[in-house]
Amino acid sequence: MTEDLSGPNIMASLKKTVKHVVLQTPCGRILLMPFRLSKALSYYAPKLKYMLRWTLSSREVTNFTYHITRANQEYLAHTVSVITGVPYSGAMSYLNEIQEDDDVRRHIAERVRRGPERHVSDEGVRFGRRIGWYAFVRIVKPRVVVETGVDKGHGAVLLCAALMRNEAEGFPGRYYGTDINLDAGFLLSEPYSSVGTILYGDSICSLQSIPNIDLFINDSDHSAQYERREYETIAPKLSPRGIILGDNCHCNDVLANFSVERHRQFIFFREEPQDHWYPGGGIGISFVRELHSQSSAA
Ligand SMILES: C[S@@+](CC[C@H](N)C(=O)[O-])C[C@H]1O[C@@H](n2cnc3c(N)ncnc32)[C@H](O)[C@@H]1O
Repeated sequence: MTEDLSGPNIMASLKKTVKHVVLQTPCGRILLMPFRLSKALSYYAPKLKYMLRWTLSSREVTNFTYHITRANQEYLAHTVSVITGVPYSGAMSYLNEIQEDDDVRRHIAERVRRGPERHVSDEGVRFGRRIGWYAFVRIVKPRVVVETGVDKGHGAVLLCAALMRNEAEGFPGRYYGTDINLDAGFLLSEPYSSVGTILYGDSICSLQSIPNIDLFINDSDHSAQYERREYETIAPKLSPRGIILGDNCHCNDVLANFSVERHRQFIFFREEPQDHWYPGGGIGISFVRELHSQSSAA
């Protein structure tokens, strides 16, 4: 029998040999390396564009600001909805409320423009995951909100804006921020400072002076030991329905473990920054499920 050396057959045999070499020999493993590297790079290359743009256009050196993607906002609204028992549409309306708040936007832009840190701050107002903090305050109507670690005060202004809206609806509350840096909190001024105070000094010391807490946000010294000490310090002051939001849960499992020990539930929401190189943080949420489901059913 003579071998069929027609064009199509040669091609088919060649393909078979190449496939064999690539997939089934040690040499194939090396040949595949450029392909595998380009596959991996395809996930990160878009970030290079953001890095370059950010380097040229932003002034920030730490505590970066950005929006989160629309899909990420939807997931956040679902997370808030599941925890609080408020319908998804209600949770989403609060996320929109703060992002559409022109007064807050103008206030922050103006404070940045006149502030001492204007050369390391951006005037654009982008709250990232903090919009979830806002939704919790609007839904839970806490009487006392504490945020450890204020920095410029993006969280402080957003939380006070939520408390002011709550007050207008008949649910007054106060904000306490703590920061070891005496220059922190330059964004927090009237009208937002009418419901908020910054306690300067070490957080653990400042927390001693606050008798009770309904919503606690940890965002100060991000070492696991210090974070743990903050939770231990506030535990006896936390109201039975108190919620803890951890801003360090993408780095460690301190709040997750604390929640298990204290018979609290824990969920982690991971944020997804939009058009930014920063990989994103998240919100760790420690709460008491039974009490919250009962309140939503009532
Ligand atoms: C990540 S920033 C806070 C960001 C802020 N929550 C926001 O929404 O933009 C951390 C802040 O914690 C403060 N800090 C660090 N260690 C502290 C401590 N032991 N006590 C109080 N504040 C501390 C820093 O000065 C810094 O301003």
